[in-house]
Amino acid sequence: MAVQSGNAASMLCLRDIYKVYTMGDQEVRALDGLNIDVHEGEFVAIMGPSGSGKSTLMHIIGCLDVPTSGSYKFDGIEVAEMDDYDLARIRNQKIGFVFQGFNLLARTTALENVELPMLYGKRKDRRDRAIYALERVGLGDRLDHRPNELSGGQQQRVAIARALASEPRLILADEPTGNLASLQSEEIMNIFQELNEEGSTIVMVTHEPDIGQHCKRMVHIKDGIVVDDEAVHDRLMARDVLVRMALEREEELKRRAAQLPAAV
Ligand SMILES: Nc1ncnc2c1ncn2[C@@H]1O[C@H](COP(=O)(O)OP(=O)(O)O)[C@@H](O)[C@H]1O
Ligand SMILES: [Mg+2]
Repeated sequence: MAVQSGNAASMLCLRDIYKVYTMGDQEVRALDGLNIDVHEGEFVAIMGPSGSGKSTLMHIIGCLDVPTSGSYKFDGIEVAEMDDYDLARIRNQKIGFVFQGFNLLARTTALENVELPMLYGKRKDRRDRAIYALERVGLGDRLDHRPNELSGGQQQRVAIARALASEPRLILADEPTGNLASLQSEEIMNIFQELNEEGSTIVMVTHEPDIGQHCKRMVHIKDGIVVDDEAVHDRLMARDVLVRMALEREEELKRRAAQLPAAV
């Protein structure tokens, strides 16, 4: 178990993080003294059983919520005690989110979905950025499509473009492939791997070992603490898997063709 020590170079440094929910007279310790460091350029899978605290951790890392106690430094700045206004500022400036359910606005085009979050910023080039981000995820020819005119995999790619458009320091994804079939999941992981190769730092929750195997580091959480933290060996590269899947499909088609009666 390789526990990285906190240092000035950590992009994210969480120390003794507790998150306690009170339900009537019941206390739920969703996070129970958790420690983790994430450095620039990492690609981390957060794994663990349902209820282990993964989403709670992502909400705290994403500045959507603050811990009950503990220290959380983002780029060396303490955020654990920030108010909602300052948290929102950090979120808008530094973090891109991708969720399992895509969270796109219906009746709104792909381009508008990507552009909208940037309305809160002062950027004048938001249309160009949105187009560029959609091209980046292979949807340059789908700018005017609404979510119900796109496949699940394409909708998730719009969500990734939305997360990317503001050029965040950190991309957070909670079960981004949870609603997708294996080919589409692989395409999404291919985009994340390319983004990471280009320098994006990514933290992703998944309960699928195959998906975790695409990341560079796996952190296992149980009962609100880190129980295992290790580098990924035999990493899966999505572009290789996609080639393999295409070959398998081709073989399958040939096999079926061979079973057809010969053309007269
Ligand atoms: N808003 C909340 N209020 C009360 N309990 C919560 C809340 N959010 C999560 N919990 C509880 O905290 C624990 C961790 O939840 P969560 O972080 O969603 O786990 P995971 O994402 O790993 O499935 C669970 O026992 C869950 O029921
Ligand atoms: Mg969850």
